[in-house]
Amino acid sequence: MKILAIVGSPRLKGNVNYLVDQALREAREVGAETEKIVLSQYEVNPCLGHDKCASFESCLQKDDAGWILDKFREADGVILATPVYYYNVSAQMKAFIDRNYFLYKHDQKYGARVVGIIVVAEQMGIEDTLHTLKQFADEFNVAKDKVFVVSGYANKMGDAKKNLLLVNDARKLGKQMVDSYSKTRKIVSTFCEEKKPDTNQIPPG
Ligand SMILES: Cc1cc2nc3c(=O)[nH]c(=O)nc-3n(C[C@H](O)[C@H](O)[C@H](O)COP(=O)(O)O)c2cc1C
Repeated sequence: MKILAIVGSPRLKGNVNYLVDQALREAREVGAETEKIVLSQYEVNPCLGHDKCASFESCLQKDDAGWILDKFREADGVILATPVYYYNVSAQMKAFIDRNYFLYKHDQKYGARVVGIIVVAEQMGIEDTLHTLKQFADEFNVAKDKVFVVSGYANKMGDAKKNLLLVNDARKLGKQMVDSYSKTRKIVSTFCEEKKPDTNQIPPG
């Protein structure tokens, strides 16, 4: 299983990055392959809004969004992680979300079967931020019980690390994503077994 985390915090040693690292480490320990993309390290421009995506084979903007979206679509599980900035996701995360419009306009589906959401605020705005990310995650057609959410309060760099409940929740999220994905795989393979033609059956006539 491959998990890709998209991080909307520009603070590489900040709270969100720390919690994402905890989740990914745990996921690796139970067998997942993981990757983290910190959006501020790349060029992901805001959507231009011409609404003509369908007329073009690729997005007109030749920045890093293209390859990031390719990886995002191919992952078995995705984590969306952001600090709360003015009661919602950071600008980096919003730009990334909007750039998914190209995929939507081309009816390109997502491979993710499980989703993780991690949100950190100093004191206010977690609900609205979660709402934004959950609405976006609806695009993936993932069952509600396969969306795992961790949110909490931290402000200065290093605060999240001291919040042991939050740290444990982030670790749990990593493991839950892998467990949940494995169950989905088992159900799919059992279903395929059932569908296999019975080769011992004598054909009629
Ligand atoms: C531009 C900006 C806007 C912010 N807006 C909010 C806010 O609306 N509500 C809140 O509780 N915290 C707000 N914060 C605080 C951050 O959410 C908080 O410091 C968080 O821990 C940052 O995560 P990070 O360390 O991963 O960057 C804001 C911080 C910045 C820099």
